[in-house]
Amino acid sequence: MCGIVGYAGFREAYDVLLEGLKALEYRGCDSAGIAMINKEQGCLEVAKVAGMASLLEQRTRGKLSRSNLGLGHSRWATHGRPSDKNAHPHVSCCHTIALIHNGIIENYRVLRAALEKEGHRFLSQTDTEVLVHLVEKYYRGDLLEAVREATDRVEGSYAIAVVCSNEPQRIICARKDSPLIIGLGQGENFVASDFAALLPYTRRTYILEDGEFVSLSPESVEVFDRGGNKIVKEIYEVEWDIAAAEKGGYPHFMLKEIMEQPQAVRDTLRRRIDLEAGRVLLPELDLTAEEARRISKIYIIACGTSSHAGYVGKYALERLASLPVEVDPASEFRYRDPLLDQNHLAIVISQSGETADTLEALRLCKEKGIRVLAITNAIGSSAAREADRTLLTFAGPEIAVASTKAYLTQLILLYLLALYLGQLRGTVTREQGAELVRGLNGLPDQLVKILTPECLTELKEIAVALAHWDSIFYIGRNLDYATALEGSLKLKEVSYIHAEAYPAGELKHGPLALITGGMPVVALATQEKVLEKTLSNIQEIRAREGAVFLVASEEFVGIERQADWVFHIPRVHQLLTPVPAILPLQLIAYYTGLARECPVDKPRNLAKSVTVE
Ligand code: M6R
Repeated sequence: MCGIVGYAGFREAYDVLLEGLKALEYRGCDSAGIAMINKEQGCLEVAKVAGMASLLEQRTRGKLSRSNLGLGHSRWATHGRPSDKNAHPHVSCCHTIALIHNGIIENYRVLRAALEKEGHRFLSQTDTEVLVHLVEKYYRGDLLEAVREATDRVEGSYAIAVVCSNEPQRIICARKDSPLIIGLGQGENFVASDFAALLPYTRRTYILEDGEFVSLSPESVEVFDRGGNKIVKEIYEVEWDIAAAEKGGYPHFMLKEIMEQPQAVRDTLRRRIDLEAGRVLLPELDLTAEEARRISKIYIIACGTSSHAGYVGKYALERLASLPVEVDPASEFRYRDPLLDQNHLAIVISQSGETADTLEALRLCKEKGIRVLAITNAIGSSAAREADRTLLTFAGPEIAVASTKAYLTQLILLYLLALYLGQLRGTVTREQGAELVRGLNGLPDQLVKILTPECLTELKEIAVALAHWDSIFYIGRNLDYATALEGSLKLKEVSYIHAEAYPAGELKHGPLALITGGMPVVALATQEKVLEKTLSNIQEIRAREGAVFLVASEEFVGIERQADWVFHIPRVHQLLTPVPAILPLQLIAYYTGLARECPVDKPRNLAKSVTVE
């Protein structure tokens, strides 16, 4: 969602802020702005536009004064449409204080009315603007103190960075329920909402916790708790480098990330399987066999693509660990009354580890005394810190808004978890376990077979054929239905084609009414036990002149005659087919998006990390 970057040091702040904003745009951005302290006159200079950082740069490069300290913000509109006025930074009435904010101030209406009564003039429709007026109200010569008092008055979530021209050498930052990271340099320091903005300069960071405040200058970074006591923070060294967050020769991050999947799967499996013993090792879980046997039910809670991984996890956990599993979108879970008891386990899945609904669901489970396991790609994220246990996917940074390699590595962890629980609970035999471990280990090589130039060309041709349709169905049974859900979401996101996933057996209960001449249906057939049923459903579509694009396991011989076009995925264990099966669907979405000239890496209206409800 919104992105924060701040700089205090010896470089031109303008360059650092603009580069940072560009690096953060992948999170979703509809307006951008900067505020800098003018070096000579010590006053504030602010520039904002409705649009991306490149537009801000076009309008401002060479037109602002020199500065070594400032803030930059990329906004993703929640309160108030994208406009110059609603863009951050927001500035106090006396034009001395500028503030940028990620999150939502829930009591902003009440605060705004009160501040307006006291004479503060508001220029925007945003919730954020109350914060800068509150800081102005409480400012008595100490910006840190004013920020502390202001944040005492607000309800909601925030990561903020504030500057004041009366204190031209420091930036004050604070966080609650929205991520904020400090980058540590030599004679320079940084603040950002995301590592991507820091990596060109430093890998040494502090990850801020809720309730922490920071006073940052070129020479020092001081962290305080709400009571004003100094905190000694541990340095977190980021392992990946800037190259991992760049396109590396690919035209788009999405394609790069699709191509990285064999490696991402290898990295996620590393040290977690013992091929010789045919066993899974998850020491991070710190779980005894007795504790595993006591679990009586699992809730999987997540949003979007991560929840689709959850559906695959449900099949694997039910089959291998013999446990009942419910999968809920986090936005639904948190507002229903689940019947939780102490022997239940909640698994939250989140690539970013910062999705607002998922975090609230996590907190709800903890409040009710349920143990929470987080599956996330972001070490140090809120999900990782707040859950009782964390399993990390090692997908590396995922920049494209449409999730690909994070999804695949989530599947891998869910398989590992299901097998591990099965081992501990005695619900998988030694032979079954060993067969699956071999199957998991062989997946990267099977994925490579789908990512050849020949396969890519074939999928591109299909995408061109699909690109002029307005609506497409995705169907499958069992695990293939879970894959259909994810395939259709990918297509929606990156090509803007309406796509809907259905359990194949549900077609004749309604959607079949929509099948007319040439209407495309993407079908999946990887599950032997429902193969004949799926093939019947396909014939029902073709009998109504629908065009079927089938993704099927290569061992199903003769299946070519059953569809208008067939893409074969390499043979893998029946339970693991969602791993190779999603690759052609990701590539179809990517190439369809390209054929329709869509901005595949940054689809309109979407954000990479949805940190507001
Ligand atoms: O970071 P998370 O996994 O919690 O994000 C959840 C969803 O916002 C995310 O998966 C979204 O659906 C993606 N854009 C899908 O490609």
